[in-house]
Amino acid sequence: MPRSVFISNILNEEARRLLPTDWAVDYNDSDLPLPKKELIRRLQGKDGLICHIISTIDEEVFAGCPTLKVVANVAVGFNNIDVAAAKRHGVVVTNTPDVLTETTADFAWALLMATARRVVEADHYARAGAWKAWKWDVLWGADVYGKTLGIVGFGRIGRAVARRASGFNMRVLYHDAVRADATAERDLRATLVSKDTLLAEADFVTLHTNLTPETRHLIDDAALRRMKKTAILVNAARGPIVDEAALVRALSERRIAAAGLDVFEEEPTIHPGLLSLQNVVLAPHIASASHDTRIGMATLAVRNCMAVLEGKPPLTPVQ
Ligand code: DGY
Repeated sequence: MPRSVFISNILNEEARRLLPTDWAVDYNDSDLPLPKKELIRRLQGKDGLICHIISTIDEEVFAGCPTLKVVANVAVGFNNIDVAAAKRHGVVVTNTPDVLTETTADFAWALLMATARRVVEADHYARAGAWKAWKWDVLWGADVYGKTLGIVGFGRIGRAVARRASGFNMRVLYHDAVRADATAERDLRATLVSKDTLLAEADFVTLHTNLTPETRHLIDDAALRRMKKTAILVNAARGPIVDEAALVRALSERRIAAAGLDVFEEEPTIHPGLLSLQNVVLAPHIASASHDTRIGMATLAVRNCMAVLEGKPPLTPVQ
């Protein structure tokens, strides 16, 4: 039976082309979030929605769009969707795990390395013409090799980050509500510790947990005070996991050494305190932004939407 789908933001043509030609597809070819009223208006009579994390899909949207059967989020994180409300309204929610795991782990490492070795400052220094002669004491950074990596959230991405640490001969600590099985711990040479131990012992703390009410401000002032003065914080998960104001204070007062951030509390706004600090590397939420991965995410979202509307089980449902 022909179906009707709304794609609320820009999506690769390769992925859109997968939708059956006799389905009605309303495509909003823009990367700006639609105001909620407009989103609800465009969803009238639609069976499926394919959306990005910039769309908030809450009770009001579900209640206002009674024909909706599936929301396919083009992201692994789904904190933009009220999953409990979706359940109440009988709507299936899907996300895009796996396809972005390695790319996101790569980028967490890119932030870690760039921050430790001050790559962005070095680039600015070189471009500004400040490099007049080779200097012994310019832009000293922190070693990564042989240090302790603390991973908060030991799911797919956290483990992919851990896997890369073996090449740097690092000691790997992790903190998660669920203990990894013995094989994973052995293969990744990772040890489960309490959050406090991880914060106190890690030279690099990298966040890979979902954003939930429990993880909001998991890294607050108290957590930052537990970290080493030489420690570096990396966040490529979700901004609100870190209390950004507390982070600005910790970085300004040099209570921790530096931070590499891909995500922020109020995206796309960045705390002005972060913008003026040298010891931070900032990125505009691009951890999964490689060509192959973004196409993989778009394709998986379209396939999820199609599966549900064709009466099949979704490939990657949010449970
Ligand atoms: C995700 O997949 O959750 C990313 O943060 C968005 O690309």
